[in-house]
Formats: sequence, structure tokens, C-alpha cells
Amino acid sequence: MPQSDRLPPPLNPGLDLTALAPMQDVTDLRFMNIIANYGSPDYFFTEYFRVYASSNLNRKILSCITENSTDRPIFAQIIGESIPDLVRVARELSHYPVAGIDLNMGCPAPRIYRKNVGGGLLRDPEKVNQILGELRSSVDGLFTVKMRIGFENTDFFDRILDYINLYDINLLSLHGRTVKEKYHSAVHYDLIAHAVQRVNCPVLANGNVTSFYTATDVLSSTGAAGVMIGRAAIRNPWIFKQIRQYQSNQPVSMVTLGEVRDYIDKLYRTTCAPTIPELARVNHMKKYLNFIGQSVDSEGAFLSNMRYARTETELFGVCDRYLLSNPDQEFALEPYPGVVARPSCETLRDSCTPDSRQYLTTSTETNDIATSSLK
Ligand SMILES: Cc1cc2nc3c(=O)[nH]c(=O)nc-3n(C[C@H](O)[C@H](O)[C@H](O)COP(=O)(O)O)c2cc1C
Repeated sequence: MPQSDRLPPPLNPGLDLTALAPMQDVTDLRFMNIIANYGSPDYFFTEYFRVYASSNLNRKILSCITENSTDRPIFAQIIGESIPDLVRVARELSHYPVAGIDLNMGCPAPRIYRKNVGGGLLRDPEKVNQILGELRSSVDGLFTVKMRIGFENTDFFDRILDYINLYDINLLSLHGRTVKEKYHSAVHYDLIAHAVQRVNCPVLANGNVTSFYTATDVLSSTGAAGVMIGRAAIRNPWIFKQIRQYQSNQPVSMVTLGEVRDYIDKLYRTTCAPTIPELARVNHMKKYLNFIGQSVDSEGAFLSNMRYARTETELFGVCDRYLLSNPDQEFALEPYPGVVARPSCETLRDSCTPDSRQYLTTSTETNDIATSSLK
């Protein structure tokens, strides 16, 4: 049976696959519900479950599986290097309603890769061989991999792709950067195209798919079976529906600034617990607004102003000023050139997450960041 036939059926058979990329501290149960509200992707992935000798299943991440009401299948992602523990956790997760088990071989955070997990595994193809072999023989259902094209270079790329074939991996999500390239370099779509040719399973192309137009370009230049989208889905949760509309020759629903203001309200009501202090709620909202703001105005003025806000009144005041003064104006499909979601001096901390200090800076620092990000 072709590998693609073993995957859960997509929403619209015949169209290319779409998936929401796993994003630590973002793609939790509530965020997935919001995405589903605007138009689900075919597949969801959880943030990674950390696996080590004494690890238990993180309850918050597990709730994405046990309380999944999106009607779409969800893959459970794991990260680790201890083979007995990876096998233990994969078996444990298989008792829950998961679409499959997904192994993270891409996380670029130094504190992660230094432990030889996530992207660190790409330096050690023999270890990849062992992990894939053991997991394949202990996972009865679907077993998928999310990885980058290499650690520092692509010397082991083909060897690892051959292990993907050897162990009948069911789906490969490929972020077209090396670990060292983190999140901002150009994406090597030619290497995704190469992987598509080399492996037997469907490939999801990942990295900088920013709109239904770029999805179409990436799909045609790589020949991938689908796209996996992360940051652009935070900015524009309509993206999966827009891709489906475009692919089926229907008019694509464009989004207005007024609709974006409603989306921000929904994010606030769904994800901000009233019990946490106001400043924490404001900072939590800035996590999303950093991405949304890339398409609000070409000068990046919304971003700089929202980064100053210390109270909810200030924050929503900025949102109203930029989004409701002309609510019928179109929300830009792509990020405005030069308007970036984070400081350019980004470093990665102890997770896959790009540095989150941007969300917690003082007003003076945020202004510097906003200015430097526009340079
Ligand atoms: C905030 C954030 C958290 C992330 N967390 C994870 C994660 O838990 N597991 C993972 O495999 N990748 C993680 N990634 C990487 C994304 O899944 C994706 O590969 C990357 O962002 C490139 O796709 P994009 O350009 O569509 O955002 C994370 C990325 C971001 C921005």
C-alpha cells in the first residue's frame, strides 16, 4: 500500500496536504481550537513531549490529544535520545487517540541539541538509525519524522533520508534549513525537492510558507505532498482555508483589519486566564501580536506601539487604533518587507522557541527592537 494511503484522509481528498507546525508555547489546545475555527489544516501536531528516564507525559500537551475537538487528526511529537524511554513513551502515547507518533529531529535550541536530542541527532546518523529502527518496531500505528536538512551542513542528509526509507516512515515533515541556520536564513527548497525524490513517503515542505501563493510556489518547486505552516498561521489563521480555496479554484476569502481585530479578541478570550497578572496577560498577547503585526502596516508602527503597552487598556487601544480606524482595509497577505516579528539579534534559549525575551522587554528596549527590526 502506498504510504500516502496509510495517512488519515485529508479534508479534501485530491488537494495537497496541509499541517499546522508544532510550536512550543503556541500550539496548545486553545490555539488549535482557534485555528480550527478559521479553517483547520489536515493535520495537527502537538508540541514535543520531552522524553528522558523519569519523564511523564506532560498533562497540558496531553490535553491537546484527549480533548481534541477540532475533528482533525493529531500527531504526538516526542523529543529525546534514550531509546528505551522513547519506546516507553511512544507506546504510552499510542494508547491515546493519536494519529501517529512524530519524532523531533530539528529543534535548534543549543540547550536541546547539546544533549543530542532534537536537531542534535542530525550529527549522529548511526544513532538516528538505531532510534528509527527501535521506534518503528515498537509503534504499531503511524510513525512520522520532523527534521531539518542537517546540523551544520548536509553531509548526512542522504544517509538519514535512506533510513527514512529503511524504516518505512509514514510521513516526513522537512524544514529546509540546517539547525545552525535557525529560523531566518533562506529556505533550501531545492533540498526539499531532493528529499521528495529520494524518500518513499509523503513529504510536507516546511519553512517560510507565508500565504496561499507561497504555498503554491513551494508545492510546485518541491513536488511535496503538502505544506506544514507555523509562524504564518499565527499571523493569518485563515491560511489553511485560503490554500484549499485557491487549490480548488474558488474565490479566496480575503481578510480585513476588522476581522483581524476579532481574531485578537478571540485569542484573548480563549488563551488568557483571568487569574494571571495583567502584565503577564499583556505579554502573552504580545507573543501573537508580534506575528500579526507584520501585516498590519508597512512601517511597523503597530508593532512598535504595541511593544510599549504595559496594560490591557494600552494594548487594546493600540489594536483599535490600527485595526478599527479603517476596518474594511485588507489585511496584507504577506508580511510587509522589513517588518519582522522579533529582534534580529535573536538567540535561542532552552526550547525550539525563538528567543522569547522580545515579549518581556521594557519599553525602552522594545523601542530599540522595533527600530532595529526595521533596519
Ligand atoms: C515559537 C516556535 C516554537 C516551535 N516549537 C517547535 C516544536 O515544539 N517542535 C518542532 O518540531 N518544531 C518547533 N518549531 C519549529 C516549527 O515547527 C517550524 O518548523 C518552523 O517555525 C519553520 O516553519 P515556519 O516558517 O512555517 O514557521 C517551533 C517554531 C516556533 C516559531
